[in-house]
Parts: sequence; C-alpha cells; structure tokens
Amino acid sequence: MLTRRICDQWRRNGRIPPESSPGLNLSLDRLSTRFYCLLPAAAGNDMRIALFGDIHANLEALNAVLEDAASQDCTEWVCLGDIVGYNANPGECLDLIREMECPVVKGNHDEDASGDHCLETMNPTAATALEWTREQLSDEQREWLHTLRMVRQVSAFTVVHSTLDQPQAWNYVTNKFDAMSNFSYQFTHVCFHGHTHVPRVFVKENRVGEVAAELVEVEKDLKYFINIGSVGQPRDGDPRACYAIYDIPRNLIIFRRVDYDRKTTQQKILDAGLPPNLAERLADGR
Ligand SMILES: [Fe+2]
Repeated sequence: MLTRRICDQWRRNGRIPPESSPGLNLSLDRLSTRFYCLLPAAAGNDMRIALFGDIHANLEALNAVLEDAASQDCTEWVCLGDIVGYNANPGECLDLIREMECPVVKGNHDEDASGDHCLETMNPTAATALEWTREQLSDEQREWLHTLRMVRQVSAFTVVHSTLDQPQAWNYVTNKFDAMSNFSYQFTHVCFHGHTHVPRVFVKENRVGEVAAELVEVEKDLKYFINIGSVGQPRDGDPRACYAIYDIPRNLIIFRRVDYDRKTTQQKILDAGLPPNLAERLADGR
C-alpha cells in the first residue's frame, strides 16, 4: 500500500517512466527502489524533501510518516539515523529504509547495535533494548549499519545525527549555547539533525537564537541548525510521530506530526520481552 501510494505520487510528478519503460517489468517494490535514490546527484531546487530520523524500530510510526510525506508531495527522502533501538521492529525498519536507497547518516543506536562493545555505561533500559536488537539483526544488517556515514551533504544542505563539531561524541544540543559549537563547523546554509527527539530550530545571525519548530521561512542571510524531532519515540510531550519537510522552492521548513497505531507498537514491545516502560513512554511522548 505504501509503495503504491508513493509510486502513484511519483507518477503524477513524472518521476516514474512511461508504461513502455523496461522499468515497469520490475515489481512495484523494485520500482520504488529505482526511484528513491536520486539524491544527491539529481537534487535540484524544485523539491519537497522529507527528513526523518530517530525511528528506533517503530515500524507503525515509520510507515505513517512515509505515507504522510507521500501525501504531502514529497519526492525525496533523507534519514537522520537511529533506525534501531528501543522498539520491536529493528530489522523491518532497517530493511525498509535500506530499500529506499535514500541518504542516511549513522545514529548512536545504529553504532551500538552494529558493534560488540560493552554497553554497561549506557542507561539500563537502552542497553537492554540494544542487546536484544543485536540478537535480532543479521551480520549483514549490522555491517550495513556499521558502514553508514556520520555526516552527509545532500543537495545544498548538511545532515548529521548529533552535531557537526564532534559527530562521534554524540553530544546533545539542548540550548543555543550547545548550538554555537555546531555553527562553527556548519558551512551550509541549513543543517538538519536529530538525537534529542525534540524538534527545535536554532538560527544564527550575529548571535545564535531559537525560533518555534512550526513553520520556518528560511532567510538566505541566516544559518539554520534544525532538529527534526523523532519518528519512533518523541520526547516533547506530543506522542505523535514527528518529521520535517524542506520545501526548497518556497524556502519553507514544515514540521509535521502524524498519529499512528501506537497500541500495536506497544504490544509488540511487551510481546518481545523488552522493558515495559518503553511501551508506556510512547503514550506520553517522553
Ligand atoms: Fe535516538
């Protein structure tokens, strides 16, 4: 259903070749992978790009976000990492994003799930979920996570999971002072990130300030460091999945909140024997 909707939307936008194309001999799923992958080489100035991250193995939320983005006429997709961890569908989320062949950066949970290192310094709930996640993923899936890049430039913007100044330190940006360090290393007009699971927009003119993460009009003389929130485990008090759309022609960044089948996600967590508080927190958005 999701793939068909996205393909229909792309067909309207001329992204899918005419019926006579050899591409249509492929299955619908295969068709989608052929046309998901136009960034960064073909990225232009007429796109609506969906940016999503911190999925954390929440398949219901991921599907809801991708369907919403297709309904919003997004034609490109960028994933900001933390595909796995916490929730119960790590392999399914990883395979879906991998099939999309969109640009992806590595998150700290992706790194921890792909390694064999000790997790005892991590909070116990996250560590339990990561140990479980390691057992669910194949060696090949873990290798794919391991090889993800920390920072990518996509079209004219940058994406990173945490910060550009020390991407592998996994620092949290919770205020404008944290954001200042990032801006020193940001050479594009706009940079998107995640990691805190809270949507925020930091803006640098002479000083660094913050504006509401709602509808942002991008001004060309300013720099923007934008947290797109979390698909699979929001922590800003709103339990709906969160992602952002970058509408390049209109210089707009639009934050979207999408409801999903939370009860199914919660039941899967309990059925898998993961810590019950991981299910409970989804209802609170914390
Ligand atoms: Fe995360």
